[in-house]
Parts: sequence; structure tokens; C-alpha cells
Amino acid sequence: MPDPAAYAPMSAAEARRLRDTLQKQGKKLVFTNGCFDLLHAGHVRYLQQARELGDALVVGLNSDASVRELKGPTRPLNRERDRAEVLAGLRAVDGVVVFTDKRATELIEAIQPHIYAKGGDYTPESLDPGERAALQKAGTQIQILSLVPGRSTTKIIERMTNAEDAGQPLRLGVLGSGAGSNLRALIQAIHDQALDAQIVAAISDHADSGFLRIAQQEGLPAYHVDAGKDPRRFDESAQKKVLQLLQEAGADIVVLTGFMRILKEPLLSAFADRIVNVHPSLLPAYKGATAVQDVLDEGEIETGCTVHLVNADIDAGKILAQVKVPILIGDDAEQLHARIKKQEHILLPKVLAEWRRD
Ligand code: GRF
Repeated sequence: MPDPAAYAPMSAAEARRLRDTLQKQGKKLVFTNGCFDLLHAGHVRYLQQARELGDALVVGLNSDASVRELKGPTRPLNRERDRAEVLAGLRAVDGVVVFTDKRATELIEAIQPHIYAKGGDYTPESLDPGERAALQKAGTQIQILSLVPGRSTTKIIERMTNAEDAGQPLRLGVLGSGAGSNLRALIQAIHDQALDAQIVAAISDHADSGFLRIAQQEGLPAYHVDAGKDPRRFDESAQKKVLQLLQEAGADIVVLTGFMRILKEPLLSAFADRIVNVHPSLLPAYKGATAVQDVLDEGEIETGCTVHLVNADIDAGKILAQVKVPILIGDDAEQLHARIKKQEHILLPKVLAEWRRD
């Protein structure tokens, strides 16, 4: 068994040698960099994806001093030697090189990786200009990988230090206009303990909707907000009423399950990045209220459902998860929608359960 005390990070020169050896074998070295001061599942999945882009993965790890510069005086949570050792223990990671600058520019110049992986909402254009120039000079291919939603070190720290919230069920404010099958699925998932949550408000714009009936039968705090007959309208006073109900109920997250009116300010900002919608298509394809009929009209052979974050644009926020559903010969909109909904009933609670466990 290797002596753990004997662990030492790789030097930049060793990483370069690894790159040269791979090059001779016609293989590729992937490089990424970061602070990694509290390793979580998001990191592990991200590093695994990065490793799969080539044949070996080297991680540039910011030194303690550079993490402090980047993240403030309370970081890093773990010292650089420990951070390096934990990272090096991951199956996806072939080597860890500690670097002292805030940026990895010099390390990129020294290693000249074949592929550079970066996580998050970056585009090649929004990378640090120094790093980008070094990558371009080395002929490195840049790959942006999506981060696992909800996972972040900052969030974990928030939760650990906020004793009030720690271990509490997620408080859901659920909005719906229709049959309410997704509401029922959420209730079931909570009952089965697959989802650690509590529905603190169930709000509908239709007094006689299945959604509201289910909410009432289940003894949930159920509210009808009268927004008028025209479903394209959602006037300011009705929006404010919904916001007030959600805030008074102390909702952490707003879940839209077939809520047919368009949310606007101030609701959007009050729950920014905390409003989730379930939509019956594989977004970005087939946005809008007639998505199920539209895929049939277009003669598609496959559709599905999407859980995504809500912003001011219709059905266009960040996609959190999707499931495909085949379209069968002879399907009409009702049959197809019923099969899509079956998948929604699994996907929506799953996304919310993961949100909690981030
Ligand atoms: C679902 O298909 C959802 O994707 C869409 O509206 C439908 C709501 O169904 N946005 P239900 O009211 O939950 O049964």
C-alpha cells in the first residue's frame, strides 16, 4: 500500500513529460484548473467528463495564497497539500500540479495540454484573456463542460453555517392551472421519502382546476388567485398576490406544473434561479402551450419532457434535466401527453431531490 505521507503533487515539468509521452503515442492530455477546496459530487462528475475528452487528466490546483486572493480570506477550507492529495485520489485524475498565480496561464504555457476543459457558463470568449491567449498559442482545444446544477462549494458552506436551514425539508410553492398530476407526483414522492420537501403553498389561477382539488383534498395550503379569464394576462396585482403568498409561506423554490400564465417581475427577481418549470417537450425544441400537438404535426418520432429554470423568456431558462419519450404510430396528443406526463412525474421530484442534496 502506498504511504499516504509520501504523496507529493506533480511538477509542471512532470506534467509536460506526460503530455509529450502521450503525444508520441498519438494520445491526448486534458488539463483543467481550479481551487477544489471542498470536493463535492459536482466536481467529481465534472472531472470525469473532462477525463473522457482525452487519455489522461492533469489538474492545475490553485495554491492556498491564490485561493485566498480569488475567494477571500476564509478560503481555502482545506490546505493545498490535502486538496492535491484528495484530487489525486480520484479515478479520473492522473496528476495534480499546484500553481501559485491566480491564473493558470504560465502552467498552460509549460504543459501545452492538447485539450483544456472549463466548467460552467463560460464561452471560449469569456475565458480569462491571458489563459485564452496561452491556450491558442499552444494549439490547445478548448472544451466547455456544463456544471452539475445546484452543486457549489459556496452553497455547501452556506448550508453548513446556516444551522436554521440545515437538514430542513425544502419548502415548495407549487403553481398549476390544470389537472394537477405533477402536484400529485410531488405529494407521492414526499410521502415515499424520495423527496425531502414540504409543499407550503399550492396556488392556481383556476378555482375549479384538478390541481386545486388535489391540493385541498390533501390538506395543503391551497389558494386560488383570480387573474381574470384571459389566460394570456397576468396583471400586476395578481402577480403581487402570488408573490405575497409564496413569501408568506416561506417558499424556497417555486415549482410550475402546467401554470399557464407568464411570470413577470417582481416575482422573477424575488425567486431568481429558484423557479422550476416542467415542460412537455425536449427544449429548446417545441416551446409554448401546444408543444405536444406541435411535435405530432411536425411528424417527429421522439419527444420528451424538460425540467428547467424559469426566466423572463418563455420556456428558455437553463435546462436542468430531460427525458426522451418515443412517439408511437397512431399516437394522438392525449395518448402522447399521458406518456410524457409519466416521465414528468419521475423527473420533477428527482430534480428537486437532487437540488436538496447538492
Ligand atoms: C404538464 O405536461 C407540464 O409539462 C405542462 O403542463 C402539464 C401539467 O400537467 N407544462 P398536470 O396539471 O401536472 O397534470
